[in-house]
Amino acid sequence: MLLRRRSQYASWSFVHLLSLTLPVLVSFGFTIRSFAAESAAGHISLDRVTNAHALPNGVEIRSGSAIMQITALRKDLLRVRIGATETLPEDASWAVLAASRTAQSPTEYKSDEHSVGFSTGDLVVTIERNPLLMTVKDAQGNVIVQDIADRPIEFHGNSFRVYKQSPEDEHYFGLGDKPGPLDRRNEAFVDWNTDAFGWQESTDPIYKSIPWFMTFRHGIAGGIFLDNTWRTTFDFDKEVRDGYSFGADNGPLDYYIFYGPSPKQVEEEWAWLVGTVPLPPMWTLGFQQSRYSYYPQSEVERIAHTLREDRIPADAIYLDIDYQFKYWPFTVDPKRFPHFDDMIRELHAEHIRTVLITDLHIAKQPNQNYKPYDEGIAGDHFVKNSDGSIYTGVVWPGPAVFPDFTQKSSRDWWGTLYSDFVQKGIAGFWNDMNEPAIFEVASKTMPDDTQHRIEEPGFKTRTATHLEIHNVFGMENSRGTYEGLRKLDPNVRPFVLTRASYAGGHRYAATWTGDNSSTWNHLRQTGPQLMNLGLSGFGLAGADVGGFAGSPQPDLLTKWIEVAAFQPIDRDHTSMGTYPQEPWENGTTEDLNVRRRFIETRYRLMSYLYTTAEEMSRTGIPIMRPLFLEFPNASKDRHPLDLNTNNEFLVGPDLLIAPSPYPDMRDDYQAVLPPVGWYDFWTGEQVPMKGLEAQRVGNDNVPDNDLQINLHPSIDMLPVFARAGSIIPIQPLVESTDIKPSGPLTLRVYPPARPGGECSGSLYLDDGISYAYQKGDFLRLKFSCERTATGVTVKISPREGSYTPWWTQFNVEIYGADKPAASATSSLGAVQAAYDSEHHRLTVVIADDGKAAELSVIY
Ligand code: GLC
Repeated sequence: MLLRRRSQYASWSFVHLLSLTLPVLVSFGFTIRSFAAESAAGHISLDRVTNAHALPNGVEIRSGSAIMQITALRKDLLRVRIGATETLPEDASWAVLAASRTAQSPTEYKSDEHSVGFSTGDLVVTIERNPLLMTVKDAQGNVIVQDIADRPIEFHGNSFRVYKQSPEDEHYFGLGDKPGPLDRRNEAFVDWNTDAFGWQESTDPIYKSIPWFMTFRHGIAGGIFLDNTWRTTFDFDKEVRDGYSFGADNGPLDYYIFYGPSPKQVEEEWAWLVGTVPLPPMWTLGFQQSRYSYYPQSEVERIAHTLREDRIPADAIYLDIDYQFKYWPFTVDPKRFPHFDDMIRELHAEHIRTVLITDLHIAKQPNQNYKPYDEGIAGDHFVKNSDGSIYTGVVWPGPAVFPDFTQKSSRDWWGTLYSDFVQKGIAGFWNDMNEPAIFEVASKTMPDDTQHRIEEPGFKTRTATHLEIHNVFGMENSRGTYEGLRKLDPNVRPFVLTRASYAGGHRYAATWTGDNSSTWNHLRQTGPQLMNLGLSGFGLAGADVGGFAGSPQPDLLTKWIEVAAFQPIDRDHTSMGTYPQEPWENGTTEDLNVRRRFIETRYRLMSYLYTTAEEMSRTGIPIMRPLFLEFPNASKDRHPLDLNTNNEFLVGPDLLIAPSPYPDMRDDYQAVLPPVGWYDFWTGEQVPMKGLEAQRVGNDNVPDNDLQINLHPSIDMLPVFARAGSIIPIQPLVESTDIKPSGPLTLRVYPPARPGGECSGSLYLDDGISYAYQKGDFLRLKFSCERTATGVTVKISPREGSYTPWWTQFNVEIYGADKPAASATSSLGAVQAAYDSEHHRLTVVIADDGKAAELSVIY
């Protein structure tokens, strides 16, 4: 109430002030518009509708000097733009695809004396006139988003804040890499990209700003995206009980409202708005070995040889900053790497690709024949101080200058710096320190008044202070790299790894969670952090395996390698001065064997992982998924099932990983399995199951504890389950994705829990590196099965696409069989079914001639 009174007083005083000062201002030649802009320094509250009219796709509302447009981009996606003083904010975005931002969906306008609003078909928007209160409901009347009475949208100077109701059973996910629990409820966050070495569970902010979150309540998902690159803040039920809020220090009040109803639909809308992760090169899904830093050249070669000698499948080695001459980006230290080009070729011959760090700071080295500096100066590409001189900050190379990445011409120039490395056959590039990180200053970054230039289609060409550009700087750095690489080698898919980014940055780069620590708690953090990153668009992400700061105990390194084998990016990396952290270090031969076994499992699952990555590149559904994304109705009262679990996650739709909640404790623990039936991935055994998800929807009497199973932790095992009703491809082991596997493709058929039930699976394959797939040179197969009263029938679709696979046979394994087959017939005639009682499976080998195939097994 206090707030309301204050705001009324403020609007009265504003009007009063206007009437007193207007004649004076006009006589001094000021326009009313410039006065209005000045008055933004005051306090403006959108507390009542003073005017409203229909738009073809929404409504425009006035509240005093403030203007608000609510429009439908699609039936399930709204945009809300608000300006405090007569004009809407600039209609431009670094995150949102232009075609999506300008999309329109027709709406039906409604207005009466109490309210105004519209319906999209899927959503009904109602704005009460006095007080101004917006409610968005779905066609069934479920509230998706609702303003809080007594908390009108307010501008204080340039800053603003928006409050929404938060029913106690609503939960929040997303916001990128922020540490802490999966559910963001009861937390508050700041978006300000920060070099956060040694961050902990409660550290905020860290490296990325992704001002997007999903809401989930009683099985129904929605979402909010605040498209504002300034310092933004989010509060979920901390400041206001049963309320969440978001705001910014400055910049546009421009936000989007999403509606599922399923969480997967919300993910697809998010991808529609900001794009998807491009199909990654397959090698980036392999095991990657890194440290700060491998040098000299002989050390890199030793690492590569040991990976091969110890038969550890691996696809990449990273060179961190010490390969460079005095830490000058885009140089190679000739003393440490006397035969750099030969080394790259030798690594290639061992099927290992090289990834180079190329930080954004350019060493300030005039008159040294240092091309990045000389060209950057000549082309006027560097960020400036407020007085127009070039800004200098100290980073790894000492004094350094910084490309102005919001200027397209500077991004294009930056991209050309990669030309020599690309010619040498370097496969991937790592853009670190791009928050941007600056040493020796308390703010850890550039001064607020540093000047950037915006030269970007869709934006007004102008200068902007660092306060506006900071959060988008890292994303535009990685974009410059990605787009440069696309031009330098147009038929090879680039791989860029970035530390800082903004919403939509996944279009250009994969990411990792920065400088984590070698602790059990940090291993545990990888789950929620990578899942929230995935939900936020960054589905291609990893955490430094083994931890960056410090050295892990042998058991921690082993367990970390096990868990990371199922995460999207699997990169072992550690800091300078720590103990060696490669899989063969820091443990016994037995430890090495366990670690190898898990990395091998990742390679056997490569077809499945790659298929999941391809799905992500089309739909935006991340590789690593929280349980509620696949099973939104699985729990009693349809709360997110993940609230009952301890760090479980799904890889793709069908594999569930259930690490021990506190991996350093050896007590038994409970895992929660969604009620669809599961098989133990390792033994093939069926997990006893009590109920099915279908029985739960709308039935709040089904207890949740019938989903629990008891597990006993051990250092050499990680519980993994395969979904009943899935078909998972498994391939023969290779030491690198560069090598074609030999032998049949195995199809693990996990029949559904009940007769009559069906199952499905798919496989996507292509050459793994080029864009030939865009011209049809790919392979897509669809698998299905049906459980009959007497056995299982499996169907394989004819090949789609022109890519010829490496196999000529399928090895079909049917799990859950407790006796030998009575008969087996394929579309080509009778076949033999071998029985393996230990794994409860029947195996049939059938030829793959590219046509449809069918197999029936009676048992
Ligand atoms: C930063 C990065 C880390 C890297 C180091 C040296 O701390 O986060 O991954 O190894 O810089 O380049």
